[in-house]
Amino acid sequence: MNFQAPEGTKDITPEQVVLWNRLETAARETFARFGYEEVRTPIFEYTALFHKSSGETTDIVEKEMFTFGDPEDKKGTYSLRPELTPGTIRALIEGGLFAKKNFWKVWYLGPAFRKERPQKGRYRQFTQIGVEAAGSPDPLVDAETMVLFAEILKAVGVTAWELRVNSIGCKECRPVYREALKNHIRPLLPTLDENCNRRFERNVFRILDCKVDADKLKDAPKAIDHLCQACKDHMAVVEASLKACEVPYRIDSRIVRGLDYYTRTVYEFSSSALGSQNALAGGGRYDTLVGSMGGPDVGSVGFAAGVERILLAMGGEAVPPAPDFFAVAAGDVSRSDVFKIVVDLRRKGLSGDLDFEARSVKAQMRSANKTGARYALFIGPEEVQKGVIKLKDMKDGTEKAVFHEEAVNILRGGKK
Ligand code: HAM
Repeated sequence: MNFQAPEGTKDITPEQVVLWNRLETAARETFARFGYEEVRTPIFEYTALFHKSSGETTDIVEKEMFTFGDPEDKKGTYSLRPELTPGTIRALIEGGLFAKKNFWKVWYLGPAFRKERPQKGRYRQFTQIGVEAAGSPDPLVDAETMVLFAEILKAVGVTAWELRVNSIGCKECRPVYREALKNHIRPLLPTLDENCNRRFERNVFRILDCKVDADKLKDAPKAIDHLCQACKDHMAVVEASLKACEVPYRIDSRIVRGLDYYTRTVYEFSSSALGSQNALAGGGRYDTLVGSMGGPDVGSVGFAAGVERILLAMGGEAVPPAPDFFAVAAGDVSRSDVFKIVVDLRRKGLSGDLDFEARSVKAQMRSANKTGARYALFIGPEEVQKGVIKLKDMKDGTEKAVFHEEAVNILRGGKK
């Protein structure tokens, strides 16, 4: 019987790990430059956390969570996290971190789980990398999170991306917009699908996200035309900052986002290099979430990106870095002597391997070639006895017998 990975999961092979590490290294370096600190939280939380934060009426919470545990339990069931924002904010509040500092800029990388229909770029277990800047109402922070993600994309060579930004208003102007939207949509309800009809009462904004009836909704009023003065001013600073930092964007009134906590700025990065699942990252401001979860009443903004989607956009498979050497056991040398020399070299910071199958010199040379090692090291009984290693430069084929110390210098410097 052959086992298969569960539907919607993806193995990351050693070749893909090279790309993954390139992305992770670039992201870590960029986060550090922008002043973000790393946090790690559990991959599951009490289900109630997601109901309270991500939103009861969102698709993610209604249909897509992997929930387990005993519903009779006093604290309720658990759910695998469908996103990392709720756990991150919970951790900041629960850890009493706002008492130490009123503004936290944190980043995370880890798995998230959604019971979606799997397809290219859409998985049931995927990896999110993202930030939460919690504790500032400043529109410059909104811009900073967008500039930050654009920098990460630049660092990993993803150029075919688009940033779309929208403002969905605040608790002052959003109710006015909600009414305007409802008044526009009410007469259309009989022509809209069942899902839209259900959303009308529960969360009318989500109707704008409808893929089926998009055409019928193209004249719907736009949130951006219903903003109060404070939201307009906020958006003006966001736009001016993006322009000043030369991050291209366009306003798109259809961006409503699939989570309930957003206020004011919302945005999505997408890539034309991907198929229908083209969202690389999504985020926005959430000025009421921290307070509603029992924390201080502070504004926050963040985004999360799908690591697997960024890897797809990076394209191809990278070549793993070539080792410094491959040791060939020649003649009837003791293989443990060769092993010891290899370990000594590794302890000195060099990378390399040896043959573990006791094969012929010819076969070992084939391995040396395959690994792309810079040098092949020939170690026979004579070399062991004299305390030397015969180095073969795999680029030009030249050979040279040198003492171990000299061999280390050559391998380190790449010079003969
Ligand atoms: P989201 O838009 O639901 O936002 O997800 C962010 C990103 O995760 C998406 O743009 C996409 O790249 C990736 N993603 C989502 N679902 C899948 C999937 N099934 N398979 C592969 N990749 C996927 C959030 O999760 C918010 N927490 C973002 C945020 C942080 N807002 C404020 N702070």
